[in-house]
Amino acid sequence: MGRPIILDTDPGIDDAVAFVVLQHYCPSDVRLIVAGYGNITKEHTVRNALTMCSLLKWDVPVLPGASGPQKGSYETAAHIHGTDGLGGLSLSEQEKKPIETDDWLLYLYETICSEGTVDYITLGPLTNLAMLFMRFPDSKKHIGRIVTMGGGIGKGNVRPYAEFNMFCDPESAAFVLREADHLALIPLNTTETVAFSLMQIDRIGQCDTVLAHALYTILKANYAACTAYGELGSTMHDSTAVLYYLFPELFSVRKCGIHVNCEKEPGNTELTDRRHNIILAEQTDPALLLEKIMACVMKEYTPHG
Ligand code: BDR
Ligand code: CA
Repeated sequence: MGRPIILDTDPGIDDAVAFVVLQHYCPSDVRLIVAGYGNITKEHTVRNALTMCSLLKWDVPVLPGASGPQKGSYETAAHIHGTDGLGGLSLSEQEKKPIETDDWLLYLYETICSEGTVDYITLGPLTNLAMLFMRFPDSKKHIGRIVTMGGGIGKGNVRPYAEFNMFCDPESAAFVLREADHLALIPLNTTETVAFSLMQIDRIGQCDTVLAHALYTILKANYAACTAYGELGSTMHDSTAVLYYLFPELFSVRKCGIHVNCEKEPGNTELTDRRHNIILAEQTDPALLLEKIMACVMKEYTPHG
């Protein structure tokens, strides 16, 4: 068993695949899922988190997080993830309910403290983590590793140089990337290389399980949306971040500082020499990462068979 994990997410198709990966490789380490706004509204991301947990028979509590950025408004990514956030995957109503609390941030803080030290993985906007650091500055000392999917060096996906998770709430992103003592950032440059082809998606679809069928549906929807925007295939941004968490040796990295622009070009991420507190993931082996994802759904999976 590894260190307890808090998963902060906005499911989302690639977030949903990240659930599959975590549930496969370290099922009992994930102690809490925080589902906030991002790819779609919070109501949908909470429901999607519950759907994924029940599909995976994974008993992890789901805590509804922030409903929007700390400042201003946001645009969803329904054009990629569909209006339900899961590419039209229709599963029956969930029995499992989210945690009910009138102070979700306090609940998050108390969970982290009760675990002693946790690792914190973010797959959506950085609003929840920024709010936690702002209200409970000592929470930082209870967090070991932070792994974040976000940003792009010299590239973006919602604006020429802005990546979605940074763009949703640039002020929160800037705060976290400045204040974190160390944070591993998995940017677009790395994640966009990890994309399923139609042939790989079809192989998943041929596997006769409820999970494989569900994955086939969402990966296929994601393939159509991603390739319409010129991407290689069904891009696995968030699973790549989770695979970095699990297998950091599969990535080359460098230490640097990252500045998030909050004014003229909100969400742009730039390298800075101010403070080298970021571990930036660079190269990886996309084929190997895709195999690691496929192994989660296909029993007796043979990589090149
Ligand atoms: C990120 O934005 C979201 O649409 C994805 O889920 C991922 O977290 C990629 O830019
Ligand atoms: Ca996400």
